[in-house]
Amino acid sequence: MARDKITVVGAGNVGATTAHIAANKGLGEIVLVDIVEGLAAGKALDIAEASPIELSSGRIIGTCDWPQTAGSQIVIITSGFPRKPGMSRDDLLAKNVEIVKSVSEQVVKYSPDSIVIVVCNPLDAMVYTTAKVTSFASNKVMGMAGALDSARFSYFIACELGVGAEEIKCVLMGGHGDDMVPLPRFTCAGGIPVTELIRPDKIAELVQRTRDGGIEIVNLLGSSAYYAPAAGAVKMAEAILKDKKSIISCCAYCDKEYDAGGYFVGAPAILGEKGVEKVIELRLNDAERAAFAESLDHVKQLALKVDKML
Ligand code: LAC
Repeated sequence: MARDKITVVGAGNVGATTAHIAANKGLGEIVLVDIVEGLAAGKALDIAEASPIELSSGRIIGTCDWPQTAGSQIVIITSGFPRKPGMSRDDLLAKNVEIVKSVSEQVVKYSPDSIVIVVCNPLDAMVYTTAKVTSFASNKVMGMAGALDSARFSYFIACELGVGAEEIKCVLMGGHGDDMVPLPRFTCAGGIPVTELIRPDKIAELVQRTRDGGIEIVNLLGSSAYYAPAAGAVKMAEAILKDKKSIISCCAYCDKEYDAGGYFVGAPAILGEKGVEKVIELRLNDAERAAFAESLDHVKQLALKVDKML
C-alpha cells in the first residue's frame, strides 16, 4: 500500500514543528513547502537528519515546488503572518486571506482529493477562505483551534487538580478568539465532570486563562505559539489518516447544527477517514448557548469581510 502523503504548507515555526511531530509519529511521507528559497528544504533536511536518533522514518522533503506536493491525502496550511504583541488575531485578516487564497488554489491544482486542515489566523475566517476557494466538500475542510484551546484548558485543569494531563477530556466551542467557549460541564477528569471537582470561581479563572492562552504566549515569546498548535494539527491529521473516529473540538462546518446557518465554527466533531464525519450536538444550557451565539456572530462578521476580499 502506498504511504500516506501529508503536505505542510509554511515552514515557519508552526509548519516546521508540525512536520517534525508528524515525521516522528511516522504518519507518512511529508512534504514541507514554503515560498522562501531553502527554508523548507533546510528544515526538512534537518528533521530528516534527526531521524536516526529519533528512530523515525525520515520520509520528509522540503521544497518551493508545488508539483512535489501532488496527490497528498492531507494538506495542513500553516502559512501566514503570526501575531505580535499588541495584535489581535483579527488584525491578520487582510494579509492572510491573500496568502491562504493563493495556497488554496495550489491545493486544488495538485491535491484535489485532499482533506485540508487550516491552522493560520484568524482561524475561522481562514477556514472559510479555504472552503470558498477550493469548493471542497464541507467535511473535507476544517480548522485546528479547538484541539489547541482544549489542550490549554486541559493542561490548566490538570495542574489545578494535580493529575496527569492525559486524564482530562475537554470540549470547547465557538470561534478561535477571545470569545471562545470552553465548556466545563462537558469536561471530565478521569470521567468525572470537573464541575464536581473544582470550585466555580476557580473554573472561571481557568476558562479566562484559556481564552487568553494565545496572547499569554505572544507576550512571553514576542510571537505566536507553535508547539501546542502543531501538536493539535497532527492530532487531527492522525485521526483522519488512521480513521480513528476521534472526538476533537475543531472548526467544522455547521449548518443546522447549533443553528449556525452554514458557517465554519468550533464544535466537537468526529474525525475519521472522511474528514469531519459528524458534528456532535450538545444540549447547551442558556448561558452556554448565549456565549456560543456571541462567538458565532463574531465568526460571521469576519466571514462577511472575507467575502468582500475574495
Ligand atoms: C494561539 C494562536 C496560534 O492561540 O492562535 O496560540
